[in-house]
Amino acid sequence: MQLRGLCNTLLLMTLASGAAFAQPARNQISYDAQTRVFRLDGGGITYAFGVNDLDEVQPLYWGAQLAKGDPLPAAHTNSGVASFDMPTSTTPQEFAGWGAGLYYEPALKITFPDGNRDLVLHYVSHHIDGDSLTLVLKDVERDVFVTLHYEIDPSTGILGRSAEIENRTRQPLTIMQAAAATWALPQGTDYSLYYLTGRWAGEDHVQHEAVHPGARVLESRRGSTGHQNNPWFAIERGSTGNEETGDVWFGALAWSGSWRITVEQDALNQVRVTGGYNPFDFSYRLAPGEKLVSPVFYGGFTQHGVGGASRLLHRFELTKILPQAPHPRPRPVLYNSWEATGFDVNEAGQEALAEKAASIGVERFVMDDGWFGQRKDDHAGLGDWYVNPQKFPHGLKPLIDKVHSLGMDFGLWVEPEMVNPDSDLYRKHPDWVLNFPGRPRTQGRNQLVLNLARQDVRDYVYGFLDKLLNENDIAFLKWDYNRNWSEPGWPAAGAEDEQQVYVKYTQNLYSILQELRAKHPGLEIESCSGGGGRVDLGILRYTDEVWPSDNTDPFDRLSIQDGFTYAYTPGVMMAWVTDSPNWVNNRTTSVEYRFLSSMQGSLGVGANLNKWQPEDFATAKQLIGEYKEIRETVQHGRLYRLISPQQDSEHSVTESVAQNGSQAVVFALLHSSQFGYPFPSIFLHGLDPGAQYRIHWISSQPDGAAARMMAAPLPETASGAYWMNHGIALSLRGDFQAAAFRLDKVGAP
Ligand code: GLA
Repeated sequence: MQLRGLCNTLLLMTLASGAAFAQPARNQISYDAQTRVFRLDGGGITYAFGVNDLDEVQPLYWGAQLAKGDPLPAAHTNSGVASFDMPTSTTPQEFAGWGAGLYYEPALKITFPDGNRDLVLHYVSHHIDGDSLTLVLKDVERDVFVTLHYEIDPSTGILGRSAEIENRTRQPLTIMQAAAATWALPQGTDYSLYYLTGRWAGEDHVQHEAVHPGARVLESRRGSTGHQNNPWFAIERGSTGNEETGDVWFGALAWSGSWRITVEQDALNQVRVTGGYNPFDFSYRLAPGEKLVSPVFYGGFTQHGVGGASRLLHRFELTKILPQAPHPRPRPVLYNSWEATGFDVNEAGQEALAEKAASIGVERFVMDDGWFGQRKDDHAGLGDWYVNPQKFPHGLKPLIDKVHSLGMDFGLWVEPEMVNPDSDLYRKHPDWVLNFPGRPRTQGRNQLVLNLARQDVRDYVYGFLDKLLNENDIAFLKWDYNRNWSEPGWPAAGAEDEQQVYVKYTQNLYSILQELRAKHPGLEIESCSGGGGRVDLGILRYTDEVWPSDNTDPFDRLSIQDGFTYAYTPGVMMAWVTDSPNWVNNRTTSVEYRFLSSMQGSLGVGANLNKWQPEDFATAKQLIGEYKEIRETVQHGRLYRLISPQQDSEHSVTESVAQNGSQAVVFALLHSSQFGYPFPSIFLHGLDPGAQYRIHWISSQPDGAAARMMAAPLPETASGAYWMNHGIALSLRGDFQAAAFRLDKVGAP
């Protein structure tokens, strides 16, 4: 009785504080030896699979948590419905080898030296250890072992799945295709798929379409994650597109090399999602005794729509993925020189910008491209990572000292994986790039890709970065990567092994990042790839933030940022305020509009401060001050996408609620008024209905020059129920108008 009372009290406290995430419970993984059913529980979900009569491992359930003791009948082979549908294909499997009669996407496909390409994986053993489970499978005949790893996050219910393939035969074998996992959804046809598409300067468009019979392939063949698709998906039951309600299964692949996620609805209407290394141009020879480990494919479930799916992922990234998890430090307000000075950097110019940046409250000053080698433009210098003596005759120290004296820390741009043919490095080591001997070497932005899979290249890259960090007081690296692969050859590896480049390149990238962080513990890193070309849960294990797009137009950014947050937390989403008119669309917007667009992520400034007027500095200083009051909520809170700017919407409204429920922050932006229609009412989410919240305007006052005009007077203080149910009418009118306010819980610390 007493215990139950305590539990209820805890539950009420959790609800009252608005915390949406269950506390960890113990004993989350169980195995029923009688039925041979495994059950994983955590974060409000249950995931179950079983070993069937043929010893195949078969998915049984993935969804909202079942009651303890609920029946989960043993798995059994589906004998098929016709001679054209073999049992191998009609029985869903957790991790299917390509063999017997498998017609859907396999998780693993192997070619043996004797020509055999048949692989049938059966259960051998398992091991449960706290929140993780390993399962060993083996081919029915040969000593090929596959260890499946499952780990459940007790707070979000997100499962991490991966596979380790081991060759215990006496001959080498070749892996032609290797996934991390296959996720199976309940039988049905009423599903719709969300995914992200884009291109350079146009990332993260949200696509939403019905799942049809056949396969939808999301992928990158580019050697890295890519701007074009992102390794994330969400599948909704039905197709209402309702942000906050409905069953949604979602997943994200933690891999920054070529990848593929295949969403299939087979002939018997089974929907499954398989993801891992991209099998295109892939082969990986495993010598006897060797292993190949797949990336981790994370998957989750929510009953709170795609908005709920995003919030679970955000929480998971902040508490489990990021290098500073579970308590990443808030992103400092940053200044970056790129859009102001381009390649034309020097000591005096950067110092002048630093002084101006410090005056508005910037906390980190970052010098971008142009400081090294013979880098006058993008034709030369990449690979030669010495400080350019003409631009910085005394090295970087005077600039760094100056930045420190202004109370900021110092960050520097690097692009470690690239080389310009016009560089000392390339003249010395032309064989260090990806290439096929005797073939042309296609350049992108006048540069080639260093083959990081090579140990000597890996050591060179680590070595110069370590030296740079040893010699200079650098708090932050903006790690750029400005082209995709071409001619992905690795001649030195030998013909049989050179396609291992698809795995070893990225593994070495991760190992460099990891080693640098271990050696330089205070160091923070941003992943940039000409904008958002390398954003995924793999790189986020080693980097603290990402650059979502080179497109800094504050209106375009709204939809890029909106799409970005489907998969990734605003806590890693750098967003700069730059100049107007913006270089992308020649669009003119006010300083305030630009700030209110960027303040929805991790705020930065990238404008040419030498051109700013005193009133611009005043607005910037005021809004940076306001941002510091809300950044914990914006970066680490719960995001509600109240009105989406996708599909040419005129409106965009986001709300972030602090994890402890003490604050909510709302940004409302208007493209252009038409026909005198009012701005739609805003109904908040995630507040405590019974608590009182006081409004505080972040943007200019109603009688000020800028955007906000209220349709009807708003109360200064009202209950959470009022703000959520009565709603808020903002009279935003005109072109590119914006307003922002926060609600502070009265009496909250
Ligand atoms: C890429 C980045 C930009 C800038 C330039 C520098 O395009 O995305 O932000 O750093 O490189 O060359």
